Amino acid sequence: MIQKLRLAFKLMWRHPLLMLAFLASAGARAGLIAAFFKLIQGFLKKALAPSTGAASEDFWLRLAAVAGLILLCWVGRSVADYYAKVLQAELGRRVEMGLRLELVEHLLKLSLGFFNRHSKAQILRAVNSDAASLRLLVHYTAGLVISSVQVGMLFGVAFTLDPVLTMWGLVGLPFAILPLMRIGSSIYKHAEESRFQGVTITHLLFQVLSGIRIVKVFQGEEREAKACHRSAMDLLKASMGVVKRQSMASVLLDSLSGFGIFFVIILGGIRVSAGDMNIPSFIIFIMALQVLLGSTRQILNLYGQIKIQSVAIDKIDIFLSEKPDIKDEKDAVALTAPPRTIEFQGVGYSFDSEPVIRNVNFTVKAGETIGIVGPSGVGKTTLLNLMARFYDPTEGKILLDGIDLKKIKVSDLMKQLAIVTQEPFLFQVSVMENIRYGRPDATDEEVIAAAKAANIHHDIASWPDGYETVIGPTRADVSVGQKQRINIARAILKNAPILLLDEATSALDSKTERQVQESLDKLMQKCTTLVVAHRL
Ligand SMILES: Nc1ncnc2c1ncn2[C@@H]1O[C@H](COP(=O)(O)OP(=O)(O)OP(=O)(O)O)[C@@H](O)[C@H]1O
Ligand SMILES: [Mg+2]
Repeated sequence: MIQKLRLAFKLMWRHPLLMLAFLASAGARAGLIAAFFKLIQGFLKKALAPSTGAASEDFWLRLAAVAGLILLCWVGRSVADYYAKVLQAELGRRVEMGLRLELVEHLLKLSLGFFNRHSKAQILRAVNSDAASLRLLVHYTAGLVISSVQVGMLFGVAFTLDPVLTMWGLVGLPFAILPLMRIGSSIYKHAEESRFQGVTITHLLFQVLSGIRIVKVFQGEEREAKACHRSAMDLLKASMGVVKRQSMASVLLDSLSGFGIFFVIILGGIRVSAGDMNIPSFIIFIMALQVLLGSTRQILNLYGQIKIQSVAIDKIDIFLSEKPDIKDEKDAVALTAPPRTIEFQGVGYSFDSEPVIRNVNFTVKAGETIGIVGPSGVGKTTLLNLMARFYDPTEGKILLDGIDLKKIKVSDLMKQLAIVTQEPFLFQVSVMENIRYGRPDATDEEVIAAAKAANIHHDIASWPDGYETVIGPTRADVSVGQKQRINIARAILKNAPILLLDEATSALDSKTERQVQESLDKLMQKCTTLVVAHRL
């Protein structure tokens, strides 16, 4: 808990001016509430004092002045309250935005291994709602500041009225601490389960949406709905667990506060009847105690809320502490020119200690092509993934001009590579931008030339929006073969010295394949190519 509060303050201090303004308005708000009570107390004392005879001339003037001051405090408190709330919200939103961007930048730097270990639903949850939890953490921590300052001020008001009575008034609170801490950990456990079920539902939805055709033909609608229903019920159970524990904590605190009020009534009554305390002071004391206990309950609520948000924040923390598996070593060397040789030396790779490829040896010289064929699941794509350094070999080495791939700067290696993946991929931007992704500074003419070489130009030209067609919003989809050709155009445009082709033409009819192959052959003459093909 302390850790979370420290984190919230650290994040809030990234915006020092906002933070100072917030603290000033929170302080002013609490100060004006305390002044309000003091003024009322002074007023009641005078007003209820036995009359001294004819009201002096300036009595009305003083009465108006006190009433005016009280009004000023009241209005001032509202203004301070407005600023405290707005600044509290702004602090939270700025922190959320900053963290979301930090998280996205961080995720983009992580290696493929991370994306294999975590589902899309988990990652989206972290970037969307978990980052929003941080805003709530800041919001609640700022609320905690407001309530704590208020508790401090009201404690001061009550204490100056009667220190002993104040202690009796708060007598129940220490007994609440231990049970509240236990309830707090239970809230965390239930919030964690509720988050897990939330991610499960998103994951199920992802699956259904991407496999909607399979769901329909294999009549899986009912099964999928049932799976969602089960998770939704578990989510309901877990979130009700949170709510019940929060209410339990409130009831506990309220009951224990009741003891304080009980003692105050008895002891205060005795004092008033003995003439040790006047009635106005007693009334003010009761009022201040009530607000004080109300603010204490508010602190408790915020404690519960912070516990709930802690679950998401711990998850973000796990993601942020992930380090890329593939990164530049300290003594990484630059790769300024295309390598003259690529050598696989006893290369092996295992996923989770399950060997996929073993002892692969070959050398390919600049401009040469090496074909990789073999049955499905034998490790062809894995071999290309190793070349692109998505993973590092678990055995042996890959050498570029005799230098271990691991010793070469990752960004330099990527500059040398172009890839057409086995499952072609398009971004939801225009076709022009999809192809230009291969070389962002390419002109429209260069993009069109690449599209012509990949034999996709005529298809694109026949679409109403041509190269401006956006896959998704303006055109639901394109055929797999068209996707493959756009992916090939992207690789052609990059014109990189090493080309990785993973069944790049598998979805094309033999005539189109032949045409695309001619362009690829021309490209391959200039490149060192690793090509996976279902037939050579
Ligand atoms: N992320 C992963 N985690 C665990 N195992 C994996 C992972 N990716 C691939 N594999 C396994 O590694 C093996 C090789 O997969 P790979 O994709 O390299 O095969 P492939 O030769 O390209 O097959 P295909 O011709 O069907 O594309 C398979 O048995 C596969 O199940
Ligand atoms: Mg494959």
